[in-house]
Amino acid sequence: MTNNTLLELFDIHKSYKDKVVLAGLKLLLAKNQCVGIVGRNGTGKTTMLKIISGLLTRFTGTLNTYQHTISALIDTPVFINDFTGRENIEYMLDIDLRAKAVEITNNLGITDYLDKKVKKYSQGMRQKLAIAMILSTDADIILLDEPFNSIDIESTSYIISLINQMKSQNKGIIVVTHNLTRIQTYCDQIYTLKNGILETYDKMTELNLKQYRIQFETEQDLLSAQSVLGEYTINIENNNTMLISFNNGNLPTILKRLSGSNIININENANVAGDDLMGGPK
Ligand SMILES: Nc1ncnc2c1ncn2[C@@H]1O[C@H](COP(=O)(O)OP(=O)(O)O)[C@@H](O)[C@H]1O
Ligand SMILES: [Mg+2]
Repeated sequence: MTNNTLLELFDIHKSYKDKVVLAGLKLLLAKNQCVGIVGRNGTGKTTMLKIISGLLTRFTGTLNTYQHTISALIDTPVFINDFTGRENIEYMLDIDLRAKAVEITNNLGITDYLDKKVKKYSQGMRQKLAIAMILSTDADIILLDEPFNSIDIESTSYIISLINQMKSQNKGIIVVTHNLTRIQTYCDQIYTLKNGILETYDKMTELNLKQYRIQFETEQDLLSAQSVLGEYTINIENNNTMLISFNNGNLPTILKRLSGSNIININENANVAGDDLMGGPK
């Protein structure tokens, strides 16, 4: 470790009953660093974050946080549903962090909901409120488990800018995400969790994944296409449009499978390098 080390995991093993999830995992997190973890469901990403944050204490190996403070968004956010968003902020955050949290909710576009009860929030609004609470933190280490779930593109950009800001404030961030939009612009290191250990992630070039935007004539066309391509992760946009990532070489096969649907347009999404690289067959 160096003076810059915020967190060290060494030889971490974790099993649930006889199911081995982590098998000698190692990780270093430094100040001003963001580590991205991508990977298939059930590989142990959340388990790793729970160990780091102290939510899970039954494991073997070495966890050193060197007394650094941690702020973590793990799994589905929990609120007091009968409180408003603002009341939740007031209830859960120290007084000096509240203004920052409110500012973040404003920038995430949920100002109008801040004084409504959380039980009336959509999933995206709940996620935004949770993000605001976590990112208003003054902790040294920030853990974000799928922060972009149910989050629109503009807000995703804003969250990325906050991550970059925190990096410049000597903090270290670990982001677990399926959303690979601009991941290289805020993660200094990207790993995939596989067979219980972290491997350097280079699938982008390895799999030659490209993102496509496909517009269908009717909603019916879109829905039937979605069911035909069930094994891919698909994001639905307005105007009967879907975003889907797959290996470039699979385009003919995909088009063949879509031959029953009326397609108006299909474009490679050039601006985004492989949004959702996990979009391959699960
Ligand atoms: N409390 C638990 N008891 C038993 N098995 C669990 C528990 N939590 C997670 N698992 C299993 O451990 C594996 C890793 O889970 P998780 O860490 O949530 O993966 P990820 O976040 O990468 O999707 C999965 O197979 C999951 O079913
Ligand atoms: Mg998880």
